Amino acid sequence: MGLLNVDEEIDEVSTVLVFYVNGKKVVEPNPDPEWTLLWYLRKRLRLTGTKLGCAEGGCGACTVMVSKYNRAEKKIIHLAVNACLAPLCAMHGLAVTTVEGIGSTKTKLHPVQERIAKAHGSQCGFCTPGIVMSMYALLRSCNKIKYSDMEVAFQGNLCRCTGYRAIIEGYRTFIEDWESERIANGTPNATSNATSNGTSNGVCAMGKNCCKNKDKEEYKGESEFIFERSSFLPYDPSQEPIFPPELKVSSAYDDQYLIFRGERVKWYRPTTLNSILKLKEQFPDAKIVVGNTEVGVEVKFKHFVYPVIIMPNCVPEMNNIVETENGFTVGAAVTLMEVENNFRKAIEILPKYKTRTLKTIINMLNWFAGKQIRNVAAMGGNIMTGSPISDLNPILMSLKVKLNLLSKKEGHRSVLMDETFFTGYRRNVVKPDEILLSIEIPFSSRFQYVKAYKQAKRREDDISIVTASINVLFEDNTNIIKRMNMAFGGMAPVTTIATKTSKALNGLIWNEDVLEKAYSHMIEELPLAPSAPGGNIQFRRALTMSLFFKAYLAISKEMTKDYLQEELIIPYHSSGAEQFHGVMPKSSQYFDLVGDKQLPSDAVGRPITHMSAYKQAAGEAIYCDDMPLAEGELYLAFVLSTKAHAKLLSVDPTEALKQPGVVAYFSAKDVTTEQNTIGPIFHDEELFATEKVISQGQTIGVIVAKDQTTAQDAARKVKVEYEELQPIIVTIEDAIEKKSFYPQFPKTIRRGDVKKVFEDPNNIIIEGQCRMGGQEHFYLETHAAFAIPKKEDNEMEIFCSSQHPSEIAKLAGHVLHVPMNRIACRVKRMGGGFGGKESRGMLTALPVALAAHKLQKPVRCMLDRDEDMQMTGTRHPFLIKYKVAATKEGKIMGAIVNIYNNGGYSIDLSGPVVERAMFHFENAYYIPNVEVTGHVCKTNLPSNTAFRGFGGPQGMFGAENMVQDLAMRLGKSMEEISRLNLYTENQITHYGQVLEHCTLQRCWDECIEKSNLAERKKNIQKFNKQHRWRKRGISIIPTKFGIAFTEKLLNQAGALLIIYVDGSVLLSHGGTEMGQGLHTKMIQVASRALGIDVSKIHISDTATDKVPNTSATAASAGSDLNGMAVLEACETIMKRLQPYKEKKPEGKWEDWVLAAYLDRVSLSSTGFHATPGIGYNFQKNEGVPFNYFTYGVACSEVEIDCLSGDHQVVRSDIVMDLGESLNPAIDIGQIEGGFVQGQGLFTIEELIYSPNGTLFSRGPGAYKIPGFGDIPLEFNVSLLKGAPNPRAVYSSKAVGEPPLFLASSVFFAIKDAIRAARADAGVPLDFCMDAPATSARIRMACEDHITQKLDQPKKGSFVPWNVVP
Ligand SMILES: Cc1cc2nc3c(=O)[nH]c(=O)nc-3n(C[C@H](O)[C@H](O)[C@H](O)COP(=O)(O)OP(=O)(O)OC[C@H]3O[C@@H](n4cnc5c(N)ncnc54)[C@H](O)[C@@H]3O)c2cc1C
Ligand code: FES
Ligand code: FES
Repeated sequence: MGLLNVDEEIDEVSTVLVFYVNGKKVVEPNPDPEWTLLWYLRKRLRLTGTKLGCAEGGCGACTVMVSKYNRAEKKIIHLAVNACLAPLCAMHGLAVTTVEGIGSTKTKLHPVQERIAKAHGSQCGFCTPGIVMSMYALLRSCNKIKYSDMEVAFQGNLCRCTGYRAIIEGYRTFIEDWESERIANGTPNATSNATSNGTSNGVCAMGKNCCKNKDKEEYKGESEFIFERSSFLPYDPSQEPIFPPELKVSSAYDDQYLIFRGERVKWYRPTTLNSILKLKEQFPDAKIVVGNTEVGVEVKFKHFVYPVIIMPNCVPEMNNIVETENGFTVGAAVTLMEVENNFRKAIEILPKYKTRTLKTIINMLNWFAGKQIRNVAAMGGNIMTGSPISDLNPILMSLKVKLNLLSKKEGHRSVLMDETFFTGYRRNVVKPDEILLSIEIPFSSRFQYVKAYKQAKRREDDISIVTASINVLFEDNTNIIKRMNMAFGGMAPVTTIATKTSKALNGLIWNEDVLEKAYSHMIEELPLAPSAPGGNIQFRRALTMSLFFKAYLAISKEMTKDYLQEELIIPYHSSGAEQFHGVMPKSSQYFDLVGDKQLPSDAVGRPITHMSAYKQAAGEAIYCDDMPLAEGELYLAFVLSTKAHAKLLSVDPTEALKQPGVVAYFSAKDVTTEQNTIGPIFHDEELFATEKVISQGQTIGVIVAKDQTTAQDAARKVKVEYEELQPIIVTIEDAIEKKSFYPQFPKTIRRGDVKKVFEDPNNIIIEGQCRMGGQEHFYLETHAAFAIPKKEDNEMEIFCSSQHPSEIAKLAGHVLHVPMNRIACRVKRMGGGFGGKESRGMLTALPVALAAHKLQKPVRCMLDRDEDMQMTGTRHPFLIKYKVAATKEGKIMGAIVNIYNNGGYSIDLSGPVVERAMFHFENAYYIPNVEVTGHVCKTNLPSNTAFRGFGGPQGMFGAENMVQDLAMRLGKSMEEISRLNLYTENQITHYGQVLEHCTLQRCWDECIEKSNLAERKKNIQKFNKQHRWRKRGISIIPTKFGIAFTEKLLNQAGALLIIYVDGSVLLSHGGTEMGQGLHTKMIQVASRALGIDVSKIHISDTATDKVPNTSATAASAGSDLNGMAVLEACETIMKRLQPYKEKKPEGKWEDWVLAAYLDRVSLSSTGFHATPGIGYNFQKNEGVPFNYFTYGVACSEVEIDCLSGDHQVVRSDIVMDLGESLNPAIDIGQIEGGFVQGQGLFTIEELIYSPNGTLFSRGPGAYKIPGFGDIPLEFNVSLLKGAPNPRAVYSSKAVGEPPLFLASSVFFAIKDAIRAARADAGVPLDFCMDAPATSARIRMACEDHITQKLDQPKKGSFVPWNVVP
């Protein structure tokens, strides 16, 4: 009845949702308030260009443009928005544009789509539509864009493949300067010899010292232009689709009171203040939703249901922002973007002192989420959510802003945001029937300063670890503190005002004594228990003081500038006041151009665009979950273990099965023990857990239902009773203590006589250990599978996102008990793999196949991001213990090394991973006497698996730590020790492989020269002398990566070549396309071998019914193995065509093909390749594990903020030997992408596990991969010239994995910078730091007067919140 009361009083209620998508009107009579815009686009409108990457606003894959008409300002507003969080019901009266709406390969691509593709900014393509739409929305909303606009536009977009440089380069062409230059010159080619990627004339940032200036001749034939800008379509804003006139002409849709009724949720959109107050009176528990950026995440991941939702976006009083005498009154529903825009305008006009508060807020907003979130989220939402890590609340509380509240019953009331406002975790004094109407933000007064700082794991789009806001009012014209107020986020369940500290400082003179006084109060007033949620206890405590110190420095500087005559701080300290800010990155890419003599049709060596890039940019490329619906298809959802080690007492699906739309539940009971036992090499894991679970995220059963929501809701209703078991082994140290290892290990490789060198008194001995964390793959497309039974002979097609379709088919055959010849496994493309889809794809594909087989219905599943992160394992965390003997000059004579990796609950690929670490523990250094042993720890974690580098980077990290320790011991630089020990031609590795064509030394020397290392070291020293709180460091690191599967049998590949009578060529091979450009390279190989243009050759997908028994696309060997197989298949055909070519040499390809056909000659062929001469025997330490090595060297310079732990990579120079590159654009993309992925591994990416095995980092909110703003400010890549590789197709080299480790140069440069800070602080220069070098680790390693104030909790006296696995 209550409902009716409200509804009845409203004159004009509409229950029909009307909006526009890509210019077409959509009328939805019964929208369900639970539908998101993304769901509707993908599932109802079948517009699958917009992708689902995370469902929590953290990746940007779902970005669309939402446009609305602002009647007050009479202009159309275009906003980039996360469709995954946007409620469909909020679209009423708006126009949505998706990637499909702006251009198409079938008609005409939009320049935004074309440029990202041509600039090689799309690899797997899963992020591409989102990035395209962010750029498109920027272009539509700005007349003249600057780089800073672009930087902001991409804060909310992630790409895991490209390393961002190529995207930035492609889109920089839209920036004013370049466009105007082009127009002014009136020639499309004008820029090709003007600016290259931020550097002039292709000369690198070394300016006149650039080797190109030194010797122009030497660089003839080399190019820095990896894409041809002159071929870009011009951008003409007048050609854009028009805003739907209906929405502009009439305000009818804005004026409607909307009520949408779903099964569980009712949605109200009132249009007056009175009606919203009435609603809130009637439904005090109703949620007021503006941006849905908090509520949407709660609904999706915490499964909250809010039966009544009220959207206030059409209540004028809540959406106004008004300037008053004292400041701004901001309506609670005003979005953060609008706040920023209004404040910016005021800052331009008003006296500077007056707008310090506004400036502090907009500075903070720059680090608040991404643009897509800020475009829709409201200030009111941030306050009312009351998150202890909110970024605005500390500022608002330090300002004690006034909040205007309103209720039907009690009318208006004002409250201050002071220490009484928040009453507990996410609770405040606002009553249930009240709404927050507005927020009053005061102007600052002449002698008032407000500074706020936020420290997060990643600078951009990350929630804070600690936020601090310091508000000081001075007595007029003095530096005497009149009033002080400081607030902190991240230190308690609520935002905390440090009242006592603030009071204690009142009346004091603003000088260094204040600091000491403040610290001593802060330590008491902002305590943190050692096991407090969020972890990083010491860091957070140190940050409160460090950020206060930063504010002290910044305010002191400003006071001096504004009115004080005296300098309060010396220049040496002044850098502590700064924060890192983005600048336009520079880059260069150097590679060999193909010579004039190469036939135009021959594509080998040319930087041609990824074959799918245009489709990817247009949203037309089909990924597994984009496949059209099959008749009667069902959806599968998982019941996962929530305990790390427990007996399954009972599993009861009764309740779940009663839900309407639920079709079946499958578990271990539906298969035999033999069927249920699976695994990639060893079958040592269960498809469905039977008696006990040994990890969280293990599959207990699956629910199959009519759709995703039904299946997932029902899966949560399956009742599982556990009896917890001990021990729960999470970390490597736990495993060592409990002796929990896989029985196939340890394994040891021995060479020479280690005993002798360690006993030699002439040698020095060092001993140490290093630890590296794991890494989440974070491919943008999660695991997906779609199985379609064929109804006949048990045939089935499985479409899935797997790097290893043959293994999926084999295991599906095993689980279904059908022969492999009935199962065709197909992979069109993956949205990234990086090893994560090598073996763990079975976890999704096998239950899907089983359900489809049992039900004889098509079954689909795409894992949610949190499921994917909980189930599928990560890169292995490693512990390496080493003992090294070396001469006094630093020549390494021997090493005894023990390597441990954390394998998780099944062995999966952990064995070969630790073996690769054993092969690579010496990285690029010759060590004559070796004893290296590998151990695989069995733990109660998800099974860890392959990840780009496959144990190689972890092993090499050991080598570099040894080199570093040795350098420290001998008082030499790290590069001196590296150079001394670097492998030379014909030296023999510890596993007996001779290094032939070893270009390490060349790469090293070239990198030293290109990076201008000697000069820059001097500059760094100078910089460090002048700056106490900013330090720079530099490091040069080599890599040598063995190419081949170390398991001999996997080094085989096949290809199938079919020529049709019209001359078109269909090529199939065993490799899968996951963005790395394998299909493009294979087409290039075929183009040379067949002598035809690439346009004649097509690859459709990878399918087990075309090329059987393939190996995984892994070990960087995809191009090598499949390339040779393709070559063989092509050569066979060419031999058959030879007579027809000879008969008609002037003819063309089509003529010869037709002639052969008419002559009844077979026009299909197969190719097969088995890498010759390899195979290694561990027992005997005999044989050759690798086909050859890929070499490279990188030099990185970083700058760190010693107070916050933040860092910025200033420059990275990479020189890599890739033989004669098959495609320099793709190879450089792999280098840059691998490097940036490695940067994540070595700096910001951190898996967070509880001591009982719960993964806390389950999505992009908690797990940070590098974003656009993290890449080196200068990023130079050179491919070594004149180094053909005789052991792979067309003299090329493998590239996928080798560059990743080069990013450790960033880690060691950070350590170098920290050492400079420690030198200033007078603490020992030798210190341990595990990887990754997170802001917490950097800050705490920069020991100083602040960290020394912190007492250390006694080890063992508490249970930490998190542990490092
Ligand atoms: C990817 C991502 C990144 C983020 N990054 C940050 C970040 O860097 N810093 C940060 O602080 N936060 C961050 N957030 C959190 C969130 O975006 C902010 O809290 C935002 O301000 C919420 O606004 P909203 O309009 O979307 O809230 P909604 O989700 O619409 O509502 C949030 C809550 O506020 C209540 N509410 C809203 N308006 C009123 C009102 N007028 N009266 C009474 N109650 C009301 C709602 O009922 C609900 O409980 C992030 C969120 C996401 C998804
Ligand atoms: S899917 Fe929407 S932001 Fe990731
Ligand atoms: S191309 Fe960006 S995620 Fe793959």
